[in-house]
Amino acid sequence: MNHQTDLTRYEEILREAPSEEPARQYYFIDALKQIISSQGQERGGQAPSCCVVTFGCQMNARDSEKILGTLKAAGYRETDREEDADFVLFNTCTIRENANEHLYGRLGHLKHCKKEHPERIIAICGCMMQEADEVEKVQEKYPYVDLIFGTHNLYSLAELLFRLFMKRQDEHNKKARERRVVELLPEAERIVEELPNARKYPFKQGVNISFGCNNFCTYCIVPYVRGRERSRRSEDILSEIRGLAADGVLEVMLLGQNVNSYGNDDPSEMSFPELLRQVCRIDGIQRVRFMTSHPKDLSEELIRVMAEEPKICRHLHLPMQSGSSRILKAMNRRYTREGYLELVEKIRRAIPDISLTTDIIVGFPGETEEDFQDTLSVVEQCRFDAAFTFIYSKRTGTPAAKMEDQVPEDVVKERFDRLLKLVDRIAREESGRDRGKTLPVLVEEQQPETGLLTGRLSNNILVHFPGPAELVGKILPVKLVESRGFYYIGQMV
Ligand code: 5AD
Ligand code: SF4
Repeated sequence: MNHQTDLTRYEEILREAPSEEPARQYYFIDALKQIISSQGQERGGQAPSCCVVTFGCQMNARDSEKILGTLKAAGYRETDREEDADFVLFNTCTIRENANEHLYGRLGHLKHCKKEHPERIIAICGCMMQEADEVEKVQEKYPYVDLIFGTHNLYSLAELLFRLFMKRQDEHNKKARERRVVELLPEAERIVEELPNARKYPFKQGVNISFGCNNFCTYCIVPYVRGRERSRRSEDILSEIRGLAADGVLEVMLLGQNVNSYGNDDPSEMSFPELLRQVCRIDGIQRVRFMTSHPKDLSEELIRVMAEEPKICRHLHLPMQSGSSRILKAMNRRYTREGYLELVEKIRRAIPDISLTTDIIVGFPGETEEDFQDTLSVVEQCRFDAAFTFIYSKRTGTPAAKMEDQVPEDVVKERFDRLLKLVDRIAREESGRDRGKTLPVLVEEQQPETGLLTGRLSNNILVHFPGPAELVGKILPVKLVESRGFYYIGQMV
């Protein structure tokens, strides 16, 4: 094979690429198809494999489906074996420090795999790569990483991968560093619609409604790594969901860092409650969920729509973060303890069968025992079905990182344990309340070990029950026979 002739051909492909999106990416997918299929032929017809490893939240999970969509369209076969995949990509999270440490551990493991097979591609994308310090660290300490991109240019994966293959053709690029492609945009320039998509479940699907966040909670790195809030056009969202419904999807989960401020960045756009109503009008869609709701933007109108529309699931994730008004102020949450409690009461009054879940941070700078007691008492009053509890993690670049009075580790740990106990006790007490009832369940999978089917109630609580695998993807009535703390054992009726 003559590398320099190939290089000339690659350069020509790059020069002739269309400039508009997503046409440009489909053009590079076509070019990749040829490269990847010839790699497959060289090894006896088996297509090269790819493995996408996702860390973090539902946004990242959704992004990974798009990434996998592009890779599959280009001819890769999916595998979950990261040690021997031809292309491994880590879609990273940086919300807390331990998320970062986890990535470096995984990267370290791949070092020897890469030595044995230098043609293998290792790529990193996602939130952590929007932090300059982390990118620098990867470039210095992990020379075997081949491709780096961020949250704002995920759509251009096909082009970046093509450029990586092109660099590998150039015999002048001998060192790993010279063959590497690093492309990061400081800000989101646009929303690119209509990219390939690899759906994980045929019956349910996450749908982005907005990207980024404008809230700047003082502990949170999201606004810096995901940028300012940008809403997708409702037309695009609704047409995507119509397509999903036509494809047999029963449940959609609308995704945004703060769904309640959907449309605030575009005066001509509808509000979130109105969008929900429109989604409920789509035939075939049986269940509508959404994540996440900032309490300060949760409107009366949203509560009304939830109460009126039976398709909207009886679950609301309402991050509280702290039960102390003083700490909430320092967090820039823009609601008080009383405001949060009032909101919960209003919601419970309008939608009595709602399941409420929350996020709580322990050990925010300046948190005293008294502040912490306030958090415990709000948890007692709100009776959450689940609360995700986090130890405060200092994120460089956020205002809280510079605050005085960082709480000592042992104090935080002790508070955290107390909170966990309380949250657990209440969740156990609450989760049995529907025992004896027969309620609709969307069956999501059959457990390989027990053969039991696993499904979800409208309020998001899991139910395990005996039944045949053919029922996966169907909604059916199940009697909740026994409560096992955080889930039910059921029986088909
Ligand atoms: N430390 C600890 N928890 C955090 N979260 C966000 N930033 C931090 C941080 N610096 C939590 C919040 C948020 C959830 C997704 O992660 O509770 O709601
Ligand atoms: Fe972070 Fe606050 Fe935005 Fe949530 S609302 S993503 S916690 S800044």
